[in-house]
This record gives sequence, C-alpha cells and structure tokens, in this order.
Amino acid sequence: MPSTSQCRICGDQVNEFFDFGQQPLSDAFPAPDADHGSEFFFRLAVGLCSGCTMVQLMEEVPRDRMFHEEYPYVSSGSSFMRDHFEGLAKQLLATELTSDDPFVVELGCNDGVMLKAVAEAGVRHLGVEPSGGVADLAAAKGIRVRKSFFEEATALEIAAEDGRADVIYAANTLCHIPYMDSILAGVRALLKPTGVFVFEDPYLGDIVERTSFDQVYDEHFFFFTARSVGEMARRSGLELVDVERLTVHGGEVRYTLAPAGERKPSEAVAGLLASEEKGALGELATLQEFGNNVTRIREDLTALLRRLKDEGKTVVGYGATAKSATVTNLCGITPDLVSYVCDTTPAKQGRVTPGTHIPVRTPKDFAADYPDYALLFAWNHAEEIMAKEQAFRDAGGKWILYVPDVRIS
Ligand code: SAM
Ligand code: TMP
Repeated sequence: MPSTSQCRICGDQVNEFFDFGQQPLSDAFPAPDADHGSEFFFRLAVGLCSGCTMVQLMEEVPRDRMFHEEYPYVSSGSSFMRDHFEGLAKQLLATELTSDDPFVVELGCNDGVMLKAVAEAGVRHLGVEPSGGVADLAAAKGIRVRKSFFEEATALEIAAEDGRADVIYAANTLCHIPYMDSILAGVRALLKPTGVFVFEDPYLGDIVERTSFDQVYDEHFFFFTARSVGEMARRSGLELVDVERLTVHGGEVRYTLAPAGERKPSEAVAGLLASEEKGALGELATLQEFGNNVTRIREDLTALLRRLKDEGKTVVGYGATAKSATVTNLCGITPDLVSYVCDTTPAKQGRVTPGTHIPVRTPKDFAADYPDYALLFAWNHAEEIMAKEQAFRDAGGKWILYVPDVRIS
C-alpha cells in the first residue's frame, strides 16, 4: 500500500511516488574516526499533493539538525553564483529599491553572497540566517545579519524594529522550509502593500525533465511549480505575479509574489502554467515515470562504477554536494567504488561523506595525482568546474555524469 501524508500547504492527501530509502543528513560530514553508529538517518521519500499539487517530502527532519553553527555550505564558493547574485542585487536596486529609504530583507542570506552588493550600495537591509557560522561570514563583510530562523514571530519583530520591507528575497531557502504557513504569514506582516516577495528555487519541471533526482534530500522539502506556488500564495492573501526561468543549479524558477490584487500578473505566469499543464506536471503518472527513470540511472551508474573497478581504473568524486548524499546512499557508492571526493569547502575537507563515509579531500589532492575518472557530483557547476579542471582532461581524465543519464564525457 503506497504511503500517504497530509500536505503542508493545503492539508489534502499527499501520495508518495518515490522512496529513496534511509538517508543521512546531507550536510553532516562526520569526522573519519566518529562513532558512525550514532549517525542520524531518516526515510527520504517524495509525494504529490492530490489537492494543490505541491510535491513535498513525506517525512520532515527537525530544522535544528540541519541548520546550526556548523552548517558547512557557503554560497560564495562558486564564482558563477557570485556573479548571479550580484546581478540580481543590481536588478533589485534598479527596480524595486528606488524609494527614499528602501529596505530589503533576505531569508537564508548565508555568507552574504547577495546582500554584499546591497550593503555596498548603502541600502538598508537585513539578512535572516539561523546558521551561525555562515552568518558570521556575512557580518564580517559589513552585512547586517540577524541569527535566527525566519517565521511569523521573527517577521513581526523585524517589522516593529525596522519597519516594513520593499523586498523580501530568498534563494534556495524557501524550498527548505516546511512550516510555510508561518513563513507566508510573516511575509504578509513584514511586506509593504506595494512590496514584493521574490524567491528562487529548483524547478520541478527541470527536475522531472532531466531526472535530476539528487535535488531530493533532507533540506529540499518542497519542489515548486507555478501552479503549486500560485495555490500556496492564494491561500495566504498573496498572488503569483511573475516567473522567470533560471539556468543556475540545474534549472530554477524565480517567483515574484505580491499582496493579492496589487500587481497585474505577467504573461510569463500564464505561459509557465500552460507548459506545466501540457507536461502533466501535476499528475501522479508523470512523477511515477520520473521514479522509473531514477531506478534506471541507479542501475546504470552502479554497473558502470563496478565495471571500472573490475578494470582496475581509479575513480574519484568531484564536489561533496548535499545532492551527492542522495546519489551515494541510494546507489550504495562507498570508498571501494569512489576512493575520495574532492571539494573546496574547508569544513568538509578531512571529513567523510554522510552515510557512505568516502573521505573528502582538497582539489589540490586531485591535481597532484589525477584519477582515470571523476564522477561529477557538482554537475550543476559543470561549466565552471570543467573549465578550471581542463588540465585533468588534457592528462587523459574523463568525467562521469549521471543527469539526465549516465555517460562518460
Ligand atoms: N541563499 C543562499 C544561496 O542561494 O546560496 C544560501 C542557500 S542555503 C542552501 C539555505 C540557507 O537557508 C542556509 O544558509 C540555512 O541556514 C538557511 N535557512 C534555513 N531555514 C531558514 C529559515 N527558516 N529562515 C532563514 N534562513 C533559513
Ligand atoms: P552546490 O551544488 O549545492 O552548490 O554544492 C557545490 C559543492 O561543490 C560545494 O560543496 C562546493 C563544491 N565545489 C567545488 O568543490 N569546486 C567548485 O569549483 C565549485 C563551484 C563547487
């Protein structure tokens, strides 16, 4: 009997369509000598709401287990993403932040990758960031940060202290937050009637089209579409007034919400809704087919890695991404198949990967002794990484990719 649960947006029934099995916290990298018996695991499974069509996890991981002082992900690690957020900051400064004394609040500002440009422009801002370590990095850049989870109570306090905001912004953060009713009540309380709530997150349409199944992990609770976001907004007195497709992180959409009736929805909203209808994105059958594709990729990838091992080839991973926790744990990829994973993040280096305990090493280690193959876990940064690692290919090295299917490049 397939499992069901209650939708975190509308309360209707959520029907499960894929079970990734027991999975660890994707950003918890244990020390090599840690007691691995105490590692936290939960059942990672995804379902579709039969009411509002929001795709969501069947089980929720408590937020303090994921976002805390030692949260290792730092947004400024990618030069491509630094440019992306600087571009967005400039766009907001030129369009929405033009009043006498504009105010912008960012949820999940991380190390300040977006707010840096806002602070440098002298515009009033506040980052709300519960993960203390990365919040400190933002503060060190001169950014005003409040170390807390955003929710309704936080929003009310900010509104009382700083007044209402012209823009509330969140990147790769809203989809991390199951308690959406509190978030949207907070947004309503904090936003000026003329203001906008802008957020960008991985797009379900791209995930299904590319079978980018590794977008599913503990931190990614919701998988948005224009339809499900429109429904979610409507229930909170907000309205979806614009959408923009982005190429970053394997395909995202930037959604703009405004208080209902304040702005005219753009043609792009109707266009995306129509393409989702055509692609049957709200149908369980479409998502079950996605699940079949995940199973095919799992089989192909494990078969390839076993064959390379039998042939005596060396294989390492590139990018100890949160996404890679899903891949390695689903496929049973342990150090016998992938000897180490290299990553630029200091807090991950010298540790082992969640659940599968593959050592994490530095890109310097990678360059010192190139393997035959590198399994590109950070495939969403492929252009940037392949360009900087051209010497690996020049030395005869090959990349292994698994989205949208398993191939050697
Ligand atoms: N915005 C950055 C980016 O796009 O690179 C960071 C994204 S990171 C994947 C998600 C961030 O959301 C983390 O820094 C986490 O601490 C933060 N976060 C999680 N729950 C939050 C909440 N309720 N309010 C504000 N930030 C939150
Ligand atoms: P992300 O896909 O969630 O952005 O995570 C990317 C991971 O890959 C992060 O741990 C940093 C790492 N990384 C590298 O090791 N080298 C690189 O050039 C880039 C862009 C990321």
